Amino acid sequence: MQVLELETIDSTNLYAKNNFASLSDSSVIHALRQSSGRGRFDRKWVDLGEGNLFLSIVLKPSLSYMDSIINITQYMSVVLSNLFESYGLIPQIKWPNDVLINNKKIAGILCEVINEKNEFKGLVLGVGVNLNALDSSLGLVTDKSITSLNLEISRSIDIFSFREQLLSMFFENYNLFLENGFEFIKKDYISKLMMINKEISIQVFNEIKSGFVKGVTDSGELVLENDNKEYVLTIGDIL
Ligand code: BTN
Repeated sequence: MQVLELETIDSTNLYAKNNFASLSDSSVIHALRQSSGRGRFDRKWVDLGEGNLFLSIVLKPSLSYMDSIINITQYMSVVLSNLFESYGLIPQIKWPNDVLINNKKIAGILCEVINEKNEFKGLVLGVGVNLNALDSSLGLVTDKSITSLNLEISRSIDIFSFREQLLSMFFENYNLFLENGFEFIKKDYISKLMMINKEISIQVFNEIKSGFVKGVTDSGELVLENDNKEYVLTIGDIL
């Protein structure tokens, strides 16, 4: 694994996409500051200042692992959660892959698929983690409640050792995950999944659906129950 460390760039995902052909499998792009970070549904990922983590992993798995690849963000959410647990915290996963502590978002994951002439080339897996945010900077994110690791454990975090831990935990089981897919993480994922049996509203494209969270399928899709009927969702944003 090779880590490319950059000062300030627009977005590590964008950098990895623009340089994808020349980056080898498992390369990591780490930016110390990010001026135009992007999140799911084309939202902004706000840079909360120095000491927060912005990185993207370039992955070039064989297309034969497509069934597993679709769950890669859920695999990363489990890795992140296990890492937060090692700091004595109790993280929870908000389907599909947001990581929260005490109901506040601490990490986000954005996976982008790279195709060239309709041919699958690989993935860029972006991860943003609030590690050293100032209490006063949390207000920069207005659309949701967020937190940061330093605030949760009342001490500053060494960004480089956190990065090393994250990458080593990610790559430790990456091949096993590719070979076994969602099944490999299902138990762990469900044990950390929030809102089980709670009623939620979820935006699916232009529609808002609601129902009780019953769990996830063997492929990591969300199972919702409404009026005694079960619905399986592959995409959505829990509101
Ligand atoms: C989300 O929660 O919507 C996903 C946020 C992902 C943010 C990270 S920060 C590093 C990488 N570069 C980006 O532009 N986005 C991801």
